This record gives sequence, structure tokens and C-alpha cells, in this order.
Amino acid sequence: MELGKWADAFVIAPATANTLAKMSHGFCDNLLLATYLSADCPVFFAPAMDLDMYAHPTTANNILRLNNFGNITLPAGNGELASGLVGHGRMCEPEEIHQTLENYFALHTSLKGKTILVNAGPTYEKIDPVRFVGNYSSGKMGKAIANALAQRGATVHLVLGPVSSEGLHHTIQLTCIESAEEMYDACTELFAVCDAAILSAAVADYKPVSQAKQKIKKKSDEFTLDLVKTKDILKTLGAQKNEKQILVGFALETQNEYENALTKLKKKNLDFIVLNSMNDADAGFGKETNKVTLIEKNGKKHTFDTKPKAEVAEDILNLLSTYL
Ligand code: CTP
Repeated sequence: MELGKWADAFVIAPATANTLAKMSHGFCDNLLLATYLSADCPVFFAPAMDLDMYAHPTTANNILRLNNFGNITLPAGNGELASGLVGHGRMCEPEEIHQTLENYFALHTSLKGKTILVNAGPTYEKIDPVRFVGNYSSGKMGKAIANALAQRGATVHLVLGPVSSEGLHHTIQLTCIESAEEMYDACTELFAVCDAAILSAAVADYKPVSQAKQKIKKKSDEFTLDLVKTKDILKTLGAQKNEKQILVGFALETQNEYENALTKLKKKNLDFIVLNSMNDADAGFGKETNKVTLIEKNGKKHTFDTKPKAEVAEDILNLLSTYL
């Protein structure tokens, strides 16, 4: 479908209740729907219909489905409707549509030309061929950051621990690793070509001193595993970075959070640090939401409410953009 491939953006205005229903369920019985299904550019749609149709839960559900597929709503306003009634369902004003598109393209090209490294997920440190020492990190926060960077036009290198790589923006250059050492090697090599790095991975601090070649058999009642420190990737990049490179780390703290995070920031030569508190019920490992405080090297603190990880990623990038 040439039309869907050629465009930089696709604006469907007005989008009737019928069109929204068909779009959200994959119908393809006219030219508009065929173009929509073939489009690989951002799609904006402006619902426009009578107030009762707009208020119907089916319509609300269809709009939500379309948003979940990545389409962008141009919200309907209140006012005079085609039927002569007055209420919610009036198509977004053309000036507002124009402004929304302008803002969208300004944001989505804001990091064009920048190359940024992100790491995410846990690391697994082998004990023997069937066991490892690991942690509960899901990699969701780092993946959200990588996606948000790609959406702003950056070239993104993501070094990802052993978690799913589903849902990543198609432009992200992915390196999959398993151990802290593999993550160290990949990150130190890639950092040299990057303008900035955001290290969100939950890298193991210790790994087994040695890895058994064969499965360790059960013998005595007690078993002691000797561990040795892994290399600190963030600290290494902090020591390597030139004055133009921006380095962002994460801190996971359970007590004296602000002081500990600030100490980490200074010790590792960071520009700012993202403090995750484990004391918040809706934040942390495996959750869909997070609550962070961003701390800059001058000690300035930015606090945020608990919100979806994709929105937390935007807050982090808004601060990063002021440095780049
Ligand atoms: N980090 C790293 N390499 C390691 C350990 C941690 O790059 N071997 C990075 C993490 O990705 C994170 C930051 O260091 O960005 C802080 O991690 P955190 O676990 O909070 O602190 P640690 O430095 O490991 O110190 P501690 O566990 O004592 O709090």
C-alpha cells in the first residue's frame, strides 16, 4: 500500500465511531482502513461524533485499544456538533491538530544525531551448567528508556540481560548478554562511540569464584559458595568518560536514600542519578510503575509521583536533554 508507506504521519480527521470501531478491530473494507493497516508512520486520529456515541463505553474502549496499539488521539472537544446538539464529541480544532503535530515532530527529532547506550535487566552468574546467581530485575525500566530514546530519534544501543526483548522499538541495536562480565565487555566497547549512557541494569555485585564444569552433586548437609566481586561497569565508564559524554546511573536504596545516592553519584563520576526507592509498594523490580527521584551532581533533587515506567522514562530523558 503505497499511501501508507510514503507518509511521515497519517491524520484521520474526522474519525467517526464506525471508523474507530473498524480500525480497532482490524477491518479492511475501504481505502482508508487498508491504508491504516499498511501504514508504518505515526497515526493520529480525531474522534468526531454525536455526544451519546462519544460517551458510549464501546467508543471509549475502541479509543483505548487504538492508543494501546500506539496510535495518538487528537482529543474531541466540547461544542456544537453536526447534529445541532451541543456537547462532547466535536472534532479537535484544526489549529490544535496542527500544533499537536508540530510538537510531536519537534520532540521526535530532538535527539536525532545522538548515540546513546542503555543497559537493562539482571545478570546471571553461573554456578554450574544448570544453576546461577541472579536477581529479580525484569529490565522493564531500561527497555522503556531505550524505547523513549529511539522515539526521540536517537541511535540506541541496548545491552540487555537475560529477559525478554519483546516490545522494543525497531531501530534499537540490541546486544544480548548473560553475565556481568559480558555486560562489562559490551558496555565498555560501545561507550566509546556514545554521547551518553544510562545504566539501569541490576548487575550482580558478586559472582562465583569458579564455575563447575559438571553439575554439582548433592553431598554434605551444608554447602558454601565462594563469591568474588564483579567489575563495576558504571564506575569504569565514569573514569573513562570525556567532558562531552553524559553518564546517568541508577541507585537502589533501602535506607538513607538521598545521601547514599549522592555518594554513589560522586564516586562513579555521574551527571545525574535515578534513585529508586524500595520502600514504595508500586515501584521497583517487575512492577509496571516506578517512583523515582532524579539527583543532579550539584545536589539538585527532582521528585516525581508513582507513574508508568514509560512516563518515568520521559522524565529521565527531559533532564538528560538539558545536558546534551
Ligand atoms: N552497577 C554497575 N556495575 C556493577 C554494579 C552496579 O554498573 N557491578 C551500576 C548499576 O547499573 C547502577 C549503579 O551501578 O546504575 C548502582 O547500582 P546499585 O546496585 O544501586 O549500587 P552498587 O554500586 O552496586 O552498590 P551497593 O550494592 O553497595 O548499594
